[in-house]
Amino acid sequence: MINKILATGAPPFGPHLLSVSGLSPEVLTGILDTAESFLEVGHQTVKKVPVLRGKTLVNLFYESSTRTRSSFEIAAKRLSADVINVSPTQSSVTKGESLLDTVRTIEALGADGLVIRHPSSGAPAFVADRLRCHVINGGDGCHQHPTQALLDLFTIRKRMGRIEGLKVAIVGDILHSRVARSNIMTLARMGAHVRLVAPPTLIPPGIRTWPVEVYHRLDEGIRGCDVVMALRLQLERAAGGYIPSVSEYARLYGINADVLDRLAPGALVLHPGPVNRGVEISGEEGFADRSAILSQVEFGVSVRMAVLYLLMGGGSEEAFPDKGGKE
Ligand code: CP
Repeated sequence: MINKILATGAPPFGPHLLSVSGLSPEVLTGILDTAESFLEVGHQTVKKVPVLRGKTLVNLFYESSTRTRSSFEIAAKRLSADVINVSPTQSSVTKGESLLDTVRTIEALGADGLVIRHPSSGAPAFVADRLRCHVINGGDGCHQHPTQALLDLFTIRKRMGRIEGLKVAIVGDILHSRVARSNIMTLARMGAHVRLVAPPTLIPPGIRTWPVEVYHRLDEGIRGCDVVMALRLQLERAAGGYIPSVSEYARLYGINADVLDRLAPGALVLHPGPVNRGVEISGEEGFADRSAILSQVEFGVSVRMAVLYLLMGGGSEEAFPDKGGKE
């Protein structure tokens, strides 16, 4: 069944995707439904549809990435766009070229869309204000990771059948996590009950205004939850003595088969990756049926196809010729 967004072809969130903060439940549902439509492309013999033929997407990642960058590249190629990856370490950034000069150069080369990851919060919004092409935030500092939150929503809906009313525990380094900030917004907006579980040092100041319950003990925080989302301990950002030691953190906050006994039956374990094995998660093979980590990666491609299509596709229904006209 074609959803309203595919039927109208209207991008639901303006020219850019910088944050999930402005996305209503209707828009979020529209993005997830669009991603659902694209899921089948990944199961075709020829994994391509022509909706972004003639468009060019540039990936510009100032921080390392496996999942986000590769999945944007695969998503764009499945939509028949041309994709260029610009690596700052092998570009004129190493000669001192500024962020603004770099993105203006990329736009002048003909980019229709730019996916940018940057260590500074607000960098994608800064460039979006100064470019005509579509800008997608691939993760900025501790601020936002919109497509991660969308693919997490998609994974939960796909595996659990719903989002509304679920109890979701986000465990770990909330303080430094753009994934947590984006997920809290989208999950709460879709009617999930969000708990944060972390030592006091890894909970951000001002948490009282967030739509969450805060727990400091793992066993209390995850009791009865339907989903537990473990976060990566960001050792590169958390070098300031936030935890006594990594082994102490793993003992108190690590997810393993014993801990999972406290979750609701059939509960899911998510992690945005990359996983510090033996720290946030141990013995995943013992609860493989409850781990959704590789589903998140797989679904991330369809979700990013939906985002690219909705931003850059202009509402073409060429990809869905058999679905036109249906509601
Ligand atoms: N989840 C995530 O952003 O992973 P990458 O850093 O590998 O892109």
